[in-house]
Amino acid sequence: MTKAKSGLRVAIAGLGVVGSEVARQLINRAGELGSAAGQPLHLVAVSARDRSADRGFLLDNIDWHDDAVAMARRDDVDIIVEMIGGSEGPALELARQSLASGKHFVTANKAMIAHHGSELARLTEDNNASLMFEAAVAGGIPAVKTLREGLAGNRISRVAGILNGTCNYILSTMEVTGAGFDDVLADAQRLGYAEAEPSFDVDGIDAAHKLTILAAIAFGQQPDFNAVSIQGIRDVSSVDFAYANQLGFRIKLVGVAEPGLMPRMQTCMLPLDSQLAKVNGVLNAVEFHGSPVGSVLAVGPGAGGGATSSAVLSDLLDIATGRGGFAFGKPVDQLTDASGVKNGAGPDKAFYVRLMVVDQPGVLATVTAILQKHDISVESLLQQGRAPGDVVALVMTTHETPVAVMTRALNEMEQLPIVKAKPVAMPILPVDMES
Ligand SMILES: NC(=O)c1ccc[n+]([C@@H]2O[C@H](COP(=O)([O-])OP(=O)(O)OC[C@H]3O[C@@H](n4cnc5c(N)ncnc54)[C@H](OP(=O)(O)O)[C@@H]3O)[C@@H](O)[C@H]2O)c1
Repeated sequence: MTKAKSGLRVAIAGLGVVGSEVARQLINRAGELGSAAGQPLHLVAVSARDRSADRGFLLDNIDWHDDAVAMARRDDVDIIVEMIGGSEGPALELARQSLASGKHFVTANKAMIAHHGSELARLTEDNNASLMFEAAVAGGIPAVKTLREGLAGNRISRVAGILNGTCNYILSTMEVTGAGFDDVLADAQRLGYAEAEPSFDVDGIDAAHKLTILAAIAFGQQPDFNAVSIQGIRDVSSVDFAYANQLGFRIKLVGVAEPGLMPRMQTCMLPLDSQLAKVNGVLNAVEFHGSPVGSVLAVGPGAGGGATSSAVLSDLLDIATGRGGFAFGKPVDQLTDASGVKNGAGPDKAFYVRLMVVDQPGVLATVTAILQKHDISVESLLQQGRAPGDVVALVMTTHETPVAVMTRALNEMEQLPIVKAKPVAMPILPVDMES
């Protein structure tokens, strides 16, 4: 058990949505949390940019630092809680200096862990500290702990998850309302579900940071953000939802990690009755597949002050009670290099393909000639209504096809004069994803 004489002294850097909620919980529930920790947890110092902002708690008896990194140099702080964000800059400097001086470090910063996790884990081991980041993946869902502890005795064969609540909200709302991506995104921004600058979310980057971390723990590899293939949700159109429904699918942004293969963040079609397809709105979900356990599903809130602070508090209690362990489940020297899987395209997949084509005689023959040339077998083909001369959607689903082959065929189709927009293709996740 990590035991300071008079309890553990905590400093929080960043007092925004998450940091200020962690501070309020530590102050308002001090007795309860101290009892769970086996010793008091004292909030002794905080840092943010604007000292005058109301954070919902009194700063009396708590030291204020304009420079967050200065807290790492204090001898009277045991745990630094970093809630600033950003893969570089003050968050990274704070992590490096805190761990180098033997302080335990708790963060919700998936970007920093996905980019610098190995370096920070090494610093942790060299300085007998703990690096904890439960809040970095899927907010209130204990996904890190589930892999690192609860399923530690399993051989993990796949981790799949809905890891970004903003994207899941946008896709769910597009499906229910029939509205287009831009309108739903604007609504999500008004409601506070999406950032003013949404690209980290809608381009799949935020979710890919989380997938990087899950893959590292699941398969004992160094976190390597550059070894993840990423596709966001911008290309999805309202017509895709109508076709998905007709075909018995739901559209979701899903991250999939499997041993030896490049983790993939992809907008895909899921069978309507599958577990992940039922996770709608801002919820997140993570599915773990392993042996001997089989399949385990965890669903819950992936963001917000309450959900994220819950994960931070659990990390603080783990440190206090000595349940820290290795950051990625094993010593950093035993983690394999994930760059070896960089070029792996993953297993063959069935695809949903939508082409916007000019409705004229011979279109079907031209498209199917390309499919035949690449030996791609079509399972179903849909074209609704006739509008001679107009641009219409031509939708097909294929049997399992190597990803590289499908990519080549799509590139060829895009060059056809009758194809008027970039083809949209989404993998159809196999039924055994859900077993
Ligand atoms: N929000 C969520 O639901 C959620 C969920 C999971 C993970 N996370 C992660 O949690 C972290 C914090 O997110 P958040 O949503 O709480 O962010 P936020 O609301 O934007 O808060 C960021 C805080 O950092 C402070 N800050 C910025 N630069 C600083 C600096 N140089 N020194 C000291 N403080 C600085 C800001 O100060 P001022 O307030 O004075 O401007 C603010 O209090 C990020 O890593 C994020 O990815 C967030």
